[in-house]
Amino acid sequence: MNLEKINRNMRGTWAGKTVHFAAEITSTNDWLKTLAKEGAKEGTLCLADHQSAGKGRLGRTWSEPAGTAVTMSLLLRPAFSPEKAAMLTLVMGLAVSQALEGMGFFTTIKWPNDVVLDKKKVCGILTEMSVREDGRIDYVIIGVGINVNVPSFPQELEDKATSLFLQTGSPCSREEVICRVMKAFEDDYEAFCRAEDMSLLKKAYEKRLANLGQPVRVLDHEQPYEGICEGITPLGELCVKKEDGTLSLVRSGEVSVRGLYSYV
Ligand code: BTN
Repeated sequence: MNLEKINRNMRGTWAGKTVHFAAEITSTNDWLKTLAKEGAKEGTLCLADHQSAGKGRLGRTWSEPAGTAVTMSLLLRPAFSPEKAAMLTLVMGLAVSQALEGMGFFTTIKWPNDVVLDKKKVCGILTEMSVREDGRIDYVIIGVGINVNVPSFPQELEDKATSLFLQTGSPCSREEVICRVMKAFEDDYEAFCRAEDMSLLKKAYEKRLANLGQPVRVLDHEQPYEGICEGITPLGELCVKKEDGTLSLVRSGEVSVRGLYSYV
């Protein structure tokens, strides 16, 4: 990783202005958590060439060969109330998709936040939050894993995961990906904070929503059901029209949603 190149190409005003890099760390999310507790500023970015204990959503692990992916975590200290933080994961998914579009990769988003290329996952996002005793947010950490130059995936992931390298056959600049994501996130986050919801970003998000108009299966713990995805609400919930014509709103973090015919 070329830190000098990153610092030179950061275009925003706060996101990624302070960058910490480790050749190897357990998890950039956990590392940034420690820095946040020590008082690190909003916009601090932790990067690693390799994570020995990278974390995925729903308690899964996240691992990639050293030096091939973007594994980074961004620190936010928002003033809005904690229940709004779950939407930030959608904001980052949108920013990653827009950043990759700027590099010629046309991705979609599998709700809530998997970025998808050629019907396979190219980026995963894990958002973690800490709330103070007075009920306000202390910090939010958005962890982003982007499969940039990952040369191959284990057999069990081959039909579900891809990388930018696997799509084009040539390596991509991880530094450029990082700088573009930071700039796109800064712009989207500003729009999010103005409305304190997704209303100003809904159109851009739905344009990329892979599930839109598609049949989905909602893996509700008590009663799974199927329906057609009709978009998102301003609160970032997925609108699913059930077979009986009723509309159901699915909140991120509560249940998983699957496409009926593929990973998307
Ligand atoms: C998912 O399961 O889709 C989320 C994956 C998130 C992985 C990233 S890599 C950087 C950051 N640090 C972690 O330990 N996880 C996130």
